[in-house]
Amino acid sequence: MCDSDVGVAFERSDRVKVEIRTQDLLSYEGDALIVNLFEGVGHPGGATGAVDQALGGSITAAIRRQEFKGKLHERLLLHTFGQLPVVQVLVIGLGKQEEFTLDRVRSASAEAMRQLRAVGVRKVASIVHGAGIGGLQADQAACAVTEGALLGLYRFDRYKKPEENGQKVVQKLTLLECDRAKVPAMEEGVRRGRILAEAVSFARDLVNEPGNILTPSELATRAKKMASGLGLTIKILERADMKKLGMGALLGVAQGSQELPKLIEVSYKGRKGKGTGPRLGLVGKGVTFDSGGISIKPSEGMEAMKGDMAGGAAVLAAIKGIAELKLPVNVTAIVPAVENLPSGTAQRPGDIVKAMNGKTIEVINTDAEGRLILADALCYACDRDLTHLVDVATLTGAVVIALGAVRTGAFTNDAELLRQVKEASEAAGEKIWELPMDDEYAEQIKSDYADMKNVGGRKAGPITGAKLLANFIGKTPWVHLDIAGTAQTEKENGYQVKGATGAMVRTLIYLAMSFAGSGKG
Ligand code: BES
Ligand code: MN
Ligand code: ZN
Repeated sequence: MCDSDVGVAFERSDRVKVEIRTQDLLSYEGDALIVNLFEGVGHPGGATGAVDQALGGSITAAIRRQEFKGKLHERLLLHTFGQLPVVQVLVIGLGKQEEFTLDRVRSASAEAMRQLRAVGVRKVASIVHGAGIGGLQADQAACAVTEGALLGLYRFDRYKKPEENGQKVVQKLTLLECDRAKVPAMEEGVRRGRILAEAVSFARDLVNEPGNILTPSELATRAKKMASGLGLTIKILERADMKKLGMGALLGVAQGSQELPKLIEVSYKGRKGKGTGPRLGLVGKGVTFDSGGISIKPSEGMEAMKGDMAGGAAVLAAIKGIAELKLPVNVTAIVPAVENLPSGTAQRPGDIVKAMNGKTIEVINTDAEGRLILADALCYACDRDLTHLVDVATLTGAVVIALGAVRTGAFTNDAELLRQVKEASEAAGEKIWELPMDDEYAEQIKSDYADMKNVGGRKAGPITGAKLLANFIGKTPWVHLDIAGTAQTEKENGYQVKGATGAMVRTLIYLAMSFAGSGKG
C-alpha cells in the first residue's frame, strides 16, 4: 500500500508571509522593492517615479535608451548602491494600460517574485499593482497581487534535496500602501488571495504527487485530513458499498488494479437553516494513474498520467477554499478514485458494464475510463438532491488537439449555468470555450450490444465523451469541463509553473461566490 511518510516531516519551501504596511516605500528596509511600469510611459509617475528620482533617474534613463519598455512581464533589475535602504529595485512591465486586467496583476506579481527569488531575495516589498493609476479596486488588486505571488512561487520539491533549490526562499512580502483608507480593504483582499492560492497549491500538490504515493486510498486520506481540519462532513464509499449501489462502470475500471477504489464525498453547509438555496455539486475525475488498461497507452509521456486525477483534485481544492472563505452556500464534492491498470483481472475491450442508473455500456477501449467512473459518480451525485452539477475531468486527448493548453473545453445542458461558469472563469483568469452538444453526436456512441459504447471514433472526441456523460445526469443543470489540456503545463508563465496548474480551482470558487450572492472578485 502507499507509504506517504516521506511527507510527514515535510516543510514547504514556498511558504511566504504577506502583510500590508502603510509606509513610504523609500524607507522600506528589506532586500528588494518591486514597482511597475505601463508600456510606453516615458516618465514614470507615482511610486515608480519616486523610486526613479531616488535612484537619480535610472529608470527614466533605461526607458530613454530603450533598454526597458514596460512590456508585459518585462523586467528591469537595478542596484541601488545605497541610494535606498534596499539592495535592489525590480521594475515589472504591465503591458499596455488599455489592455490591463486583474489577471495581469496576478501574472506580473508572479514574474516579479520569481525573478527576485532567483537572485536570492528573502524580504521584498511591492506596491499593489493596479490600485493606483491602474484604477482597480483596492481589495481586488491586493487579492490578485497575493494570488500571483504565492502561485508564482509555488514549487513541488518534497522529493529533492534542499540544497538543490530549497535554499532560495522568499520569506516575506510586504505590500506598501500610503493611503490608510485603503488598508482594511487590502487586508481583506490579501486574506482572500491567500485562501485562493492555497487551494490551488493543494490541488497542484495532489496532481504532482506520483502514482505510487497518491493512490486512491491516499487521495481519500488527504481529503479526510483536509475535511476534518475544516469541520466538513466526509464520507468514503468502499468497494462493497459501490457493489451494493450497482456502480458497475466504476468497478469495471478499478478491477485491474490491486489498489482499492474509493468514492470520496465531502460536504460543506455554508447556508444555515432550511431555506431553498442552490446546492452545488462538484464532481471530479480521480484516476490516480491511467496506463490505459488493456488498451495500453504508448510509454512515451505516460508518466504525465499521474495527473489524471486533476479534476478530483480541483473539486477537493475548491471545497477547501469555499469553506475557508465561509461562503454562504451549500456544496458537495464527489471524487471517484481508481487506478487504471492492465492485469489478469482487468476489464477487456468488449466487456459490458452496468452503471448505477441501470444503463449498460460496452467498453470498446479501456483507455476511455474517465467517462466510465464519472457515469457512476454523476448518478450518485444526482441522488444527492443537488440543484446544479459541474464536473471537471482530464477526459480526452482530443480536447488538447482542439484547444491546446490555452482553454478548457466546456459542455452543457443549461445555458444559464454555463453563463455563470464562464463569468467565474473570466474573474479567475482561467479561459474556457464551449463546444457543441448536438443530438447527432450521440449517434457515434450507439452500440450493437448495449445502451451505448464508451468511444465514438476519432471524430469530435471531446464531444462524444461529453455526450456519454449526459446519459447520467438526468435533467439537472450541468456543465462538464474537460481539462486534459490545461491541468498540466510544460513551461513557466505568469503564475503558472511547470507541472500541475490547479486549473479550474479558482473558477469553481468564484462560481460558489456567485451562488452565494457576493460576486466578489
Ligand atoms: N486521461 C486520458 C485523457 C488525457 C490525454 C488526459 C492527454 C491528459 C492528457 C483519458 O482517459 C484517455 O485516455 N482518453 C482517451 C479516449 C479515447 C480512447 C476515446 C484518449 O483521449 O485517447
Ligand atoms: Mn484513459
Ligand atoms: Zn484517463
